[in-house]
Amino acid sequence: MQARQPQAPAFPVAMTHPLHTHPLCQPEHLGTPIPDSPHAVSVCLPTWADIIGYEDKEPRVVDKMRTGYPRFFFHPLINEVRALLKAEPGWDVLPFPDEAAATQCATLASGKVIAVDGLWAAYFSLENLPAARAFWQHAGRILSSRAAEDWLAHRRLGAPNPALEKTFLDRLATWSAAPADHISLHPSGMAAIYTAFQTVTARRPGRRTVMFGFPYTDTLKILSKFGCGVEFFPRADKADLSELAALLQQEEIAGLFCEFPSNPLLGTPDLPALHRMAAQYGVPIIADDTIGTFFNVDVLPHVDFVATSLTKAISGEGDVMAGALAVNPQGLFADQLPSTSPGGIYARDLAVLERNSRDFPERMKIANTTALELARFLQAHPAIEHVWYPGLDPSPVYEQLRKPDGGYGAVLSFLPHRAAQNTPLIFEKLQLSHGISLGTKYSLVSPYVQLAHYHELEWAKQCGIDPHLLRVAVGTEMWDDLKARFTSALQVDRDVPAR
Ligand SMILES: Cc1ncc(COP(=O)(O)O)c(C=O)c1O
Repeated sequence: MQARQPQAPAFPVAMTHPLHTHPLCQPEHLGTPIPDSPHAVSVCLPTWADIIGYEDKEPRVVDKMRTGYPRFFFHPLINEVRALLKAEPGWDVLPFPDEAAATQCATLASGKVIAVDGLWAAYFSLENLPAARAFWQHAGRILSSRAAEDWLAHRRLGAPNPALEKTFLDRLATWSAAPADHISLHPSGMAAIYTAFQTVTARRPGRRTVMFGFPYTDTLKILSKFGCGVEFFPRADKADLSELAALLQQEEIAGLFCEFPSNPLLGTPDLPALHRMAAQYGVPIIADDTIGTFFNVDVLPHVDFVATSLTKAISGEGDVMAGALAVNPQGLFADQLPSTSPGGIYARDLAVLERNSRDFPERMKIANTTALELARFLQAHPAIEHVWYPGLDPSPVYEQLRKPDGGYGAVLSFLPHRAAQNTPLIFEKLQLSHGISLGTKYSLVSPYVQLAHYHELEWAKQCGIDPHLLRVAVGTEMWDDLKARFTSALQVDRDVPAR
């Protein structure tokens, strides 16, 4: 079928950045924070062997890691706090910004909570570290590196800043269509999703949830590890919709989770159809719009909650973690707003986020345009087997939810021909920063499936997710520069027949 060619919105050329002349992707960059900040959320894993080595916890790789994604890797400042909280021999400890988070962690890890100078410490026996770590990673109610830094310096945390919170919430409200008093703030995107999960499961205790579409890894982990079971519909197609209809007739479901678009295949589930179906049974829908962003799509009217990782495009810098949860004022939870996590967004993190977010719409416009160029370029390239991007032959649902000035987002995934052989070569040749995360003003590339699903690759494959795809998060660089770098990296296999 001939791909429709949506009009790329014009953007102010002055906003574009020349590509970082030194993207972090050389072997000597292993373990270097991305960006160059003590509070960077990403880290360079330059080669395929480094990716595998990281997942296999090879000392060659792990010993070089100066930081890591904060939910997956204990930041050095968090480890300093842990050392000062002195767990007894055979025990370990994790610090939390609020009592509720520490208590939930301690409960899962069969431990106990002690308040220490404004922090809440969950202590547990060493054998339960994996359970505590899972809570840290999946639920995301973490102490930030800035909070740890302040605590180490002053033995207390900084005070909240309600005026700044109001400024920031008002800004989110103008972008997201949710009133400011219907948005709550959280220490990470996962914490926002976890809050929605707690809210809907408290309304229907003991009930299962539904995951509609293959999602970002930790969302499904929350539903499967912390709930009463989950029915997973990985493909989110028409067949899955019919099966879902049958399930909803038979079983009371606590909540239905989905992403718009999804990570990493950029799927666009039929939210209006889901909404009509779920409403008949009083089932709330929780949609994650982190990849679409509320600059591009307006999902709120079709769901009860919208969870957004502010760590990504709203920040754009990759140096702060945060999340937001918006409630539909016409939805099932309009009168029962979940409050901001007690830890909220730590005041110093909020100050950084507020500053970073000021040019979010301008950045998004540029990234939309460049990502569409890149998607078309890759789709036409003989070395590429498949490209996933909502702007290539956009689905009617995406067009229905797209805002008047919205585009198709900054994230795409692609699969080279002979991927098992060529993906590692292309990845290593591609002169972009090699790190996990998305939404940054500098482009990032990662073999996302290897990083997010290394221990379940076969299962991911059965769900239709190729372990060798590459995910690109497009930044605000000049398209010509990006194109040159892709052109060069894709010269790996000249024998591939043209399609
Ligand atoms: C689609 C999506 N939703 C949610 C998250 C979680 O956000 P955070 O890392 O801020 O907790 C991520 C990535 O990390 C994501 O890709």
